[in-house]
Amino acid sequence: MKIVETPDSAYAHINGWRCEGFKVGLVPTMGALHAGHLSLVERSRSECDYTAVSIFVNPTQFGPHEDFSKYPRTLEDDLRQLSNLDVDLVFAPQNTSLYPDGFSCFVGTPKVAQPLEGIHRHDHFAGVTTIVLKLMNIMPANVAYFGMKDYQQLAVIRRMVEDLNVPIQVAGCPTVRESDGLAMSSRNRYLSPEGRQKALCLSKALNFAADAIASGQTAVSEIEASMQKLLVENGADSIDYARIVDPDWLTDISTITGPVVALIAAHVEKTRLIDNRVIELEN
Ligand code: PAJ
Repeated sequence: MKIVETPDSAYAHINGWRCEGFKVGLVPTMGALHAGHLSLVERSRSECDYTAVSIFVNPTQFGPHEDFSKYPRTLEDDLRQLSNLDVDLVFAPQNTSLYPDGFSCFVGTPKVAQPLEGIHRHDHFAGVTTIVLKLMNIMPANVAYFGMKDYQQLAVIRRMVEDLNVPIQVAGCPTVRESDGLAMSSRNRYLSPEGRQKALCLSKALNFAADAIASGQTAVSEIEASMQKLLVENGADSIDYARIVDPDWLTDISTITGPVVALIAAHVEKTRLIDNRVIELEN
């Protein structure tokens, strides 16, 4: 497994493989790797000739009062896990090589970035589109793999790639969960044992929404109100949103007539957690 720190070196390796006609997969991450990340790596390994992973805690996608400085950095352990999976290349740059003095050009955000996270994490998605486009330029793979755990992020990246004609295919991968339903997240390690139990309130509220819809409820505002109640009763300290929206555009809907996505962002202890579930109508 090659480990490189500079954009030039990452580009040279990946461009070399592409020129030889190989199919290359890219898995962008911020490290603190868990089974969710590794599922993207495994998917790339199964579909591509070469798999490259980036590990970079991207400062521009964190707000001034968010957890950038305390975000877990576990490079040695990450490299061990990636090497066990036979990853071909890891790009783990320093801040200054991606954001040198004088850096000032940001990528814009599509409309789908505006609701939900866009309301609660101002400028977050501009940081994401900027770093993801930079990584796609530095690591010109055939396919880039992203998790549905960050549902809105995936929608934003798909739109950016389409709108800006970025020559890469975007693949969305299912959310990997702990056996009790908690979506895996690097931020779960901030939780105390009690917080870890309380954090189940997110998947419980999503399952409640799916059951309500399966049993024929169609009034979105009523289901959302019940989700909020369930979140608070089961351990959420505050809720940024608990919404049911259109699965493609993330726009509001009032009555359920087709597939939807339920999305939640809530604080448990001091940790902000997100989760979502796509809900299809059963016939
Ligand atoms: P990070 O949170 O490290 O996640 C890297 C990738 O792993 C993302 O595509 C995310 O959706 C996916 N992922 C995280 N938890 C998952 C789970 N439980 N199941 C399946 N996939 C999961 O997302 C980012 O980093 C950054 O915003 C990044 C895209 C790297 C840009 O900085």
